[in-house]
Amino acid sequence: MALPLPLYEQKEIGPLESRDGKAFTAVIGLGEELVAQLKAYSLNQEDSELQNNSSDFTRFGEGSYESWYAKERTPFALVDPENGKLAAIAWLGPKPLGLDSKKHLSPEEQEQYEKKLESGNWHTISFRSYPEYRGTGLMKGFAKLVIQEYKKHYPHAKIWAITDRSNPASIRLSEALGLSIVSETDKGRVTMAEQ
Ligand SMILES: CC(C)(COP(=O)(O)OP(=O)(O)OC[C@H]1O[C@@H](n2cnc3c(N)ncnc32)[C@H](O)[C@@H]1OP(=O)(O)O)[C@@H](O)C(=O)NCCC(=O)NCCS
Repeated sequence: MALPLPLYEQKEIGPLESRDGKAFTAVIGLGEELVAQLKAYSLNQEDSELQNNSSDFTRFGEGSYESWYAKERTPFALVDPENGKLAAIAWLGPKPLGLDSKKHLSPEEQEQYEKKLESGNWHTISFRSYPEYRGTGLMKGFAKLVIQEYKKHYPHAKIWAITDRSNPASIRLSEALGLSIVSETDKGRVTMAEQ
């Protein structure tokens, strides 16, 4: 199977358990039903942790999942088999270490982007758990499984993530995945990467 999968294709990659022993199903690719849930969660203004720590409101809520998907991102989902609810997502894709999305870069940086992409083999990971499931100890196992599956397809990939000093859950989770801090801006933006 080549990645990314065709749009809306979804395949099971394994079972997972939360800390209290509840069963979940991990999948690669999001079918239309999961995309609809992702959009609804992203528009949820009551989820201040999501709104303060991500751009998902504009990325998936107002924006088009289909255009985002076309940027060579591979999404994974964790689903509650009892009710089909989306519990968490994670996605990976090639991106030079420490760089912002291409559209936010200066013309000089954009020129360097492709060169850095080819030479570095860096891929970013992003993750979200949704309110009902957040803090239940699901994310470490899920994100580890996701990276393991991704590396079957990109065996030379080195993983990095960007987060904020003010987001301890994200920093703690990234550390548990084997990423460590490589740089921090004076505004508290933290780049974490595999060594
Ligand atoms: C970041 C996020 C995905 C972590 O998910 P989660 O559901 O809290 O994950 P888990 O329950 O599996 O916990 C992961 C680790 O973080 C720790 N953690 C969770 N919340 C924490 C907090 N508020 N302060 C400190 N550590 C915390 C847990 O103890 C656990 O570490 P451990 O296994 O060593 O005990 C989730 O908080 C989230 O979706 N936040 C909103 C969106 C976001 O910030 N995404 C990341 C953007 S960079």
